[in-house]
Amino acid sequence: MSPSETADSSASSTGRPATERRRPRGGNPIRVGLLGCGVVGGGVLSLLEKNSAQLAQRVGVPIVVSKILVRDLAKPRAPQAAGIALTTNADELLNDPEIDVFVEVMGGLEPSGQLIEDALRRGRCVVTANKALLAARGTALLELAAHHQVDLAFEAAVGGGIPIIRTLRDAAASDEVFALAGILNGTSNYILTQMSEAGVSFEGALSEAQAKGFAEADPSLDIGGFDAAQKLLVLAMLAFGAKPPADLNALLVEGISALSPIDIEAASKLGYSVKHLVVGRDHGSAVELRAHPALVRQSSVWANVSGAQNAVKLEGRALGPLFISGRGAGDMPTAVSVVADLIEVGRSLVAGVPGMVTGARPIQARSLMPRSEFELRYYLRFEVSDRLGVLARIASALADHGVSLSQVSQSEGQGERARIILVTHRAKEGAVRAALQSLAPLLPESPVLLRIEEL
Ligand code: NAP
Ligand code: HSE
Repeated sequence: MSPSETADSSASSTGRPATERRRPRGGNPIRVGLLGCGVVGGGVLSLLEKNSAQLAQRVGVPIVVSKILVRDLAKPRAPQAAGIALTTNADELLNDPEIDVFVEVMGGLEPSGQLIEDALRRGRCVVTANKALLAARGTALLELAAHHQVDLAFEAAVGGGIPIIRTLRDAAASDEVFALAGILNGTSNYILTQMSEAGVSFEGALSEAQAKGFAEADPSLDIGGFDAAQKLLVLAMLAFGAKPPADLNALLVEGISALSPIDIEAASKLGYSVKHLVVGRDHGSAVELRAHPALVRQSSVWANVSGAQNAVKLEGRALGPLFISGRGAGDMPTAVSVVADLIEVGRSLVAGVPGMVTGARPIQARSLMPRSEFELRYYLRFEVSDRLGVLARIASALADHGVSLSQVSQSEGQGERARIILVTHRAKEGAVRAALQSLAPLLPESPVLLRIEEL
């Protein structure tokens, strides 16, 4: 859907949206249509019930969930859902004139995307936790919301309970944010923590993360790095005004599923922890966007972000560095962010004015920095035949491509094999990969390359 389509399809002959923004109705409650009632939806119901009096005080009127959309009526629900109309028919919510705000906590691209569009076109505000949808269609949805003068709020989409969207949208609005980094996937961070600190297997730790409600319905989004990459795109949209590319694979996306305990242990001996990171930097002519596992110094704050915790660092020209961390997944932290949005949207409804703006910068398509241009330090592990001169040939191939080494270690592997671990000085990734390519005939198996992040 293009911006012009969104505008044209619903504009009247006066140029104003055909559907007027819903007006507040005296002292009546804000009525919510809840789209989805799983992990996050259950948390939202629980918070709304537990803190109803304080929420009513903040908004000026009570917030009430009037209908809930689910897929399976027979599934057990959070106890707070008892007494609220439950349906599998989305039209029952969309056509309900009493509903002021839709809270979308279903996930996936469809039918959630269509439901959000329908709600915005009908002049209803929307709160969503759906980073997959925002990464795919965020720009168009924001334009649609602006066109209909309604709010589209998505604090819960990035960082669970961490107020990072608000920070970018409001707190840093007068600044130019030029760099950001983060640990943004709670499931991956939980798995890496359990593997490195408690000796739990990858599969065991993933099952634990699923049982705790951290993982996506499709956990390959978490362990494949895609969930973190989607969140990076949402942040880059607000921070750098970078329109998310149509294909997520346009940026560098690597997950933790291929990580070997050998490298986690070797990194630890070198003084590093392995974390799944996202990194974004606005270079002016291009934006650098990447999501991948990386080595961080054990002495850095990043190494202490453990379990399902998330962390984000922003760097603004005026503000300097800002680091924020907290619980990044799970029902209650995520619900706190959803309800924070509901409070803001509710207050704007009561005041009768749209409350939301996006980032400080207009959103437009930006060029992505090619991977070959990334300039970092690298950890390289080679499993080689234990023969005279192999280490020298590897070092010389790297030197031929202008890659210098800061650390070298060799140990005996199994049988006739030896293990060589190298740490490079800063180098262009293209040069490192070209050196590894030239070594391919010498190596019985592909070397392991991990990036080292000095954040
Ligand atoms: P979940 O537990 O799987 O819940 C999804 C809910 O949506 C379920 O109630 C499901 O109904 C309903 N649903 C899904 N597809 C539907 C359809 N086609 N029609 C009607 N109902 C449908 O997921 P979740 O963990 O709460 O996550 C929800 C959203 O929040 C996702 O976008 C996720 O990325 C995001 N999020 C999650 C977390 C977290 O820690 N879990 C944190 C931040 C953001 P049934 O119950 O009947 O199956
Ligand atoms: N699956 C996500 C995670 C949920 O593990 O971080 C929070 O967005």
